[in-house]
Amino acid sequence: MKIGIIGAGHIGGTLTRRFRALGHEVFVANSRGPETLADFAAETGATAVTVKEAQPAGSPGRIALPVAGDHKAAKAVVLKLIDELGFDGVDAGGLDDSWKQQPGSPVYGTDLDAEGVRLALSEAKPDRLPGFRATSGAAAPVKRPNDWREAPESTAR
Ligand SMILES: NC(=O)c1ccc[n+]([C@@H]2O[C@H](COP(=O)([O-])OP(=O)(O)OC[C@H]3O[C@@H](n4cnc5c(N)ncnc54)[C@H](OP(=O)(O)O)[C@@H]3O)[C@@H](O)[C@H]2O)c1
Repeated sequence: MKIGIIGAGHIGGTLTRRFRALGHEVFVANSRGPETLADFAAETGATAVTVKEAQPAGSPGRIALPVAGDHKAAKAVVLKLIDELGFDGVDAGGLDDSWKQQPGSPVYGTDLDAEGVRLALSEAKPDRLPGFRATSGAAAPVKRPNDWREAPESTAR
């Protein structure tokens, strides 16, 4: 199995040694960069990598963020920037779909991975939570009763 481990101290180092002894392929990272793990890599047979390489795009548990937009090239840039920051970007459709990530929606303020973000987006319901509804007379009429979970007061703007 290919295993990525972030941290090469007491715990990460022990896991690396044990998984290597079991014959697994281990990619290990620390905060200072793979060059500082050269001796450890030589000793254990693990591959020293950057943090990003230890948790490749799309891997379970890597925090993902939804991105919605109508401009495909602009959205691609944002998705790339998110990847460079070490997160997974999830294409969340066009601007017409962006309500699925509004405050209080299932994906909002979470640390889900890509699969979790896709699931949460699919579970969003189109009615805005009362706390986030526009207060002007121009507010869109609510089409059906809100049955989402209540958003915490602290996130209301
Ligand atoms: N040891 C225990 O008994 C124990 C028990 C329960 C929980 N924990 C928790 O388990 C975690 C690891 O503990 P440990 O004892 O193995 O710690 P440790 O010996 O101090 O090792 C920490 C490792 O994490 C790396 N690291 C720290 N910040 C990082 C970052 N931002 N990006 C990438 N790598 C980073 C360090 O790299 P550098 O050396 O390059 O900084 C180091 O290799 C900690 O969160 C600790 O609280 C430990």
